[in-house]
Amino acid sequence: MKIGIIGAGRIGGNAARMFTRVGHEVLVSFSRDPYTLPTLAAELGDRAQVGTAAEAATFGPVVMISVPWPAVDIALSAAGSLAGKIVIDTTNQFILGGHDDLGTHTAAQLNQARMPGARLVKAFNTLTAGFQAETAGRAGADRVVIFLCGDDAEAKAAVAGLIDDAGFIPVDLGGLADAAAMEAPRRPGAVYGEEYHET
Ligand SMILES: NC(=O)c1ccc[n+]([C@@H]2O[C@H](COP(=O)([O-])OP(=O)(O)OC[C@H]3O[C@@H](n4cnc5c(N)ncnc54)[C@H](OP(=O)(O)O)[C@@H]3O)[C@@H](O)[C@H]2O)c1
Repeated sequence: MKIGIIGAGRIGGNAARMFTRVGHEVLVSFSRDPYTLPTLAAELGDRAQVGTAAEAATFGPVVMISVPWPAVDIALSAAGSLAGKIVIDTTNQFILGGHDDLGTHTAAQLNQARMPGARLVKAFNTLTAGFQAETAGRAGADRVVIFLCGDDAEAKAAVAGLIDDAGFIPVDLGGLADAAAMEAPRRPGAVYGEEYHET
């Protein structure tokens, strides 16, 4: 599958590694440094290319957005319309000194509202990039869960497949309104920041 990645840092860059390892193609985009993305693409080989955020948005059926919360609007304005795209949202609502107060909405709902027509699925956001890199591909009872949620069943099935391809067990927590348990901060009863296995 072709996956455009907007923000290929710790989480997005590691996702690019996990996806290309199993045969997916990625286009990595959106950096302030001219050397970071070419270096990453060279590491990943011929399944990776570098482009603009707008090119990532049109590269294939799936787009991952993986930028810091304060940069989401800038990234989306660089990307252009994501209508019809399956968007994997890895973001957490951290701002300088804490996390954004979202009122009664989840961060996933707010992002869906910022991307009209996108088929948003929140995933890959509950575990650190280092932990994802270290645990991807574990087998048997040690295989780690990656949670997802979204309002589009077909989009969720596609992302669940990518989670499986990346080496994790996909577990669906429901719609975007149910995303709070997946979202920062870490707290009792939430899955955010916690390692889960199937049994
Ligand atoms: N790190 C984790 O363990 C972790 C875990 C779960 C979820 N998340 C969430 O995933 C998202 C990405 O986190 P990350 O840790 O992968 O971030 P990161 O390592 O800082 O990567 C962010 C990417 O966005 C790019 N970018 C372009 N313009 C930017 C701007 N104006 N400001 C900031 N970055 C800009 C950065 O490129 P350049 O720096 O090359 O310019 C970088 O490639 C965040 O919403 C975070 O809360 C992170």
